[in-house]
Amino acid sequence: MLPPIRVAITGAAGNIGYSLLWRIADGSCFGPDQPVILHLLEVPGALERLEGVVMEVVDSAMPLVQGIVATDNARTAFDGVNQAFLVGSRPRGPGMNRSDLVAANGPIFVGQGQALNEVAASDVRVIVVGNPCNTNCLIAQRNARDIPPERFTAMMRLDHNRAAGQLAQRAGVPVSQVSGVAIWGNHADTMYPDVTRATVGGVAATERFEQEWLRGAFLDTVATRGAAIIKARGASSAASAASAAVDHMHDWWFGTNGGVVSMALPSRGQYGVPEGLVFSFPCRVGSGGAVEVIEGWPVDAFCQSKIDQNVAALLAEREAVADLV
Ligand code: NAD
Ligand code: LMR
Repeated sequence: MLPPIRVAITGAAGNIGYSLLWRIADGSCFGPDQPVILHLLEVPGALERLEGVVMEVVDSAMPLVQGIVATDNARTAFDGVNQAFLVGSRPRGPGMNRSDLVAANGPIFVGQGQALNEVAASDVRVIVVGNPCNTNCLIAQRNARDIPPERFTAMMRLDHNRAAGQLAQRAGVPVSQVSGVAIWGNHADTMYPDVTRATVGGVAATERFEQEWLRGAFLDTVATRGAAIIKARGASSAASAASAAVDHMHDWWFGTNGGVVSMALPSRGQYGVPEGLVFSFPCRVGSGGAVEVIEGWPVDAFCQSKIDQNVAALLAEREAVADLV
């Protein structure tokens, strides 16, 4: 058995937390031989609910779980953690945009960024799930000055998986036959699911599907799927979000073996995206966990207009939280 890693999950008593904990605890994320110590953070008003969740984890008798810390104190929650899932924050309701949440949720990531900076392990890696996740990630990263910026990522994997799911469904093939999808930009309706290099059942997606569908119904379905789920379920996506968070951290941990994944990370100016904006690019992850933004991806005029639209939206969000970053 390997030595345990410490994994923080904020908002652990919430809807996503309720799926995520079990996927981390059963080895789906960091592998079947990797023990974990779970560090669970909640707000004081949710500690009793968290206690119930902890009872259930214990009752699940998960062999990889070597300890559980449950607390409402961010410094305790992040003490020595190697992996951090920042989920805890308010979800949007019907009729809201994700960016409407920034005033309520943004401040959470100031204190959590500072706490990570002070007490997390030197190898900490962070995924921000709480919305608006790109800008919340920016806030956390800017408040954690001693942690290398590339350790902070925001979750675009749900959008990536949604795009793959739509392509597979339309083609009538299992999703395992879809590869090379990439999401550009912000986890918002402006995102761009790009299939320029995607293949479906070994055939280029651009040959298999009409451009009218790819730039119309497909794009709209992926970009507005979160709102459609809220309308249908009366609650925001939870199991699929937890699954995407596991996929993201799994691939960051194990590497993508040359495969393309979508991750939002602080831009270093790639594709003209202003430095520092937390932007989703087509990425690969090496076996040591280094995330590489794939350079030289073909960017046509349509893609460029989408990149520009997302940059504008993220600059506006950054402006709105200027006092937090
Ligand atoms: P939820 O309301 O069910 O749970 C959120 C939990 O976070 C609650 O238990 C709450 O007490 C806790 N919380 C709030 N503030 C906190 C803080 N400061 N510290 C620790 N915990 C805190 O919501 P949910 O469905 O689990 O969604 C959580 C967030 O994830 C929302 O912002 C939602 O919009 C976002 N989300 C993002 C994606 C994505 O693709 N990036 C997908 C789905 C949901
Ligand atoms: C999603 O995409 O499902 C989440 O970001 C929740 C939301 O508000 O859409």
